[in-house]
Amino acid sequence: MISEEELKTKITKSRNIPSHIAIIMDGNGRWARKKGLPRISGHKEGINSVREITRACGEIGVNFLTLYTFSQENWRRPRIEVSALMNLLVETIRKEIDELMDNNVRLQVIGKIEELPERPRVEMLEGIKRTAVNSGLTLVLALNYSGRTEILEAVNKILLMKNDEDKSELTEQLFEKQLYTNGIP
Ligand code: IPE
Ligand code: MG
Repeated sequence: MISEEELKTKITKSRNIPSHIAIIMDGNGRWARKKGLPRISGHKEGINSVREITRACGEIGVNFLTLYTFSQENWRRPRIEVSALMNLLVETIRKEIDELMDNNVRLQVIGKIEELPERPRVEMLEGIKRTAVNSGLTLVLALNYSGRTEILEAVNKILLMKNDEDKSELTEQLFEKQLYTNGIP
């Protein structure tokens, strides 16, 4: 009988598995409204989907899964929803961390995490620290993320590195190194 390991290797070899998949989370609220439930129930259901997707990605050998979880623009949502989302983030990391460890999943973050409220920030950083030893799927959460901010931060870091005499042109490689996604394919 073929072992699970052999089967996974076979799947990976025979199919064209992307090394990185990114998902923009959306429609949680609409899902809930259709069912006559509060928006937060939709967010909770979103987490169930994410759990399944994470497991499947790990199983078929996707290396990176990025979830656009909370954008910089999302701060403009009603305060009660923002705080419910932050609480859900804390709760979810706490609940899922053992499973992430069991499944060899490494947690990472992109976005201005330093601007998150203390509890989600600390929880996230601890999750990253604890799962750093894992070598399977890397699960990247985009939190307080904005593409424009990412580009601006990269440019500002480069400006700081360059002195006035340095007239060399910026290369794609150097720019890429300053993005949150440095090291991520
Ligand atoms: C995505 O679902 C969750 C987050 C952005 C946090 P939405 O909350 O955007 O759900 P809809 O778009 O209102 O249905
Ligand atoms: Mg939406």
